[in-house]
Amino acid sequence: MKQAQHALNSIELSPDQQDHVNTAARILCEGGIVAFPTETVYGLGADVSNPGAVRKIYDIKQRPLDHPLIVHIGDISQLNYWAQAIPESAWKLAYQFWPGPLTLILQRSHHVADSVTGGQNTVGIRMPAHPIALALLDALGSGKALAAPSANRFGHISPTTAAHVQHELGAKVDMILDGGACEVGLESTIVYIENQSVRILRPGGITALELEMVLDMPVNLASIASQSPRVSGLLPAHYAPITPLRIYPAEQIWQQASTLTAQDLRILIMTWSNTEQTQFSNQLIEHCSMPADPVIYGKQLYAKLRQFDQAAFDYLLIEAPPNHPSWLAITDRLQRASNHSSNKNELSL
Ligand code: TXA
Ligand code: MG
Repeated sequence: MKQAQHALNSIELSPDQQDHVNTAARILCEGGIVAFPTETVYGLGADVSNPGAVRKIYDIKQRPLDHPLIVHIGDISQLNYWAQAIPESAWKLAYQFWPGPLTLILQRSHHVADSVTGGQNTVGIRMPAHPIALALLDALGSGKALAAPSANRFGHISPTTAAHVQHELGAKVDMILDGGACEVGLESTIVYIENQSVRILRPGGITALELEMVLDMPVNLASIASQSPRVSGLLPAHYAPITPLRIYPAEQIWQQASTLTAQDLRILIMTWSNTEQTQFSNQLIEHCSMPADPVIYGKQLYAKLRQFDQAAFDYLLIEAPPNHPSWLAITDRLQRASNHSSNKNELSL
């Protein structure tokens, strides 16, 4: 509770921002849909307790109805209201990491609608850290929470700026709250706690090591085979740009690009180790050099992929990230993006 109160006390919105937040809260209470910033990515919010509003989210995103939504709360004490039989380890994680980029999958309370949980007996809950998200939850009033998936079409890249939401969903939402570029830039870490075991369903800003330090027990990444197909962010193909994306080690990537340009294809190469870029000077190749720090890389990744889609390249060739736990969330998103159906063009390499 201490951390949550601290976060709420530290909110300092300008009068204009507070006006926008109050308007957004009114729209949500009337059953409308508001896109809002979180520290991870922008969310598409509806009042959890209004099934009609929740249904609109699925329509706007074109998301299958049985894919569950995360419930966003404004205070740790609300965990008891949305979930039941909460294990000690879940409380430990909530107190340590909330507000912040961690989602807990817990047994749902009976009053949580099937439209939110996708009919599963669990519910995903998180307390976001962005001041505007917290102010919005505060303005909604006690006992209220927001069902909010990422504010993008199903399967596409999550938005990390208000302009991304405007571009992708624009007229379909009642209001977009602008809170600048998201600090983390990748979706929250999703953790599933069951029978004393803790598994990561989706890697994110909070690493397994950080979770292990708090829980004093091993935390494993759930295998794809053990994941429910209804967990959309965990589908093998997800988080994808429109342009086909392929991942190669640094020593192959420039050669692959030059083979493709021989077929007159326009290629974008994105690297983090930044080797060899001068070796090939080719009008059909553009090179984007990314930071070698996973935190900064993660913050920029989705905005870059959107920018590349705008530039209409034929292929995005991405250097494989380092094989290190701090890069896990990035590797996960890139792999899912490379598996996407819109990426199935034959690549004659
Ligand atoms: O950072 C985030 O988590 C962002 C911001 C807006 O909070 N939200 C987000 O929501 O990424 P969404 O819906 O795009 O992805 C949430 C993932 C989905 O893969 C969903 O299936 C999974 O969480 N999920 C939600 N409830 C679940 C549950 N009860 N059991 C298993 N997975 C669940
Ligand atoms: Mg999403």
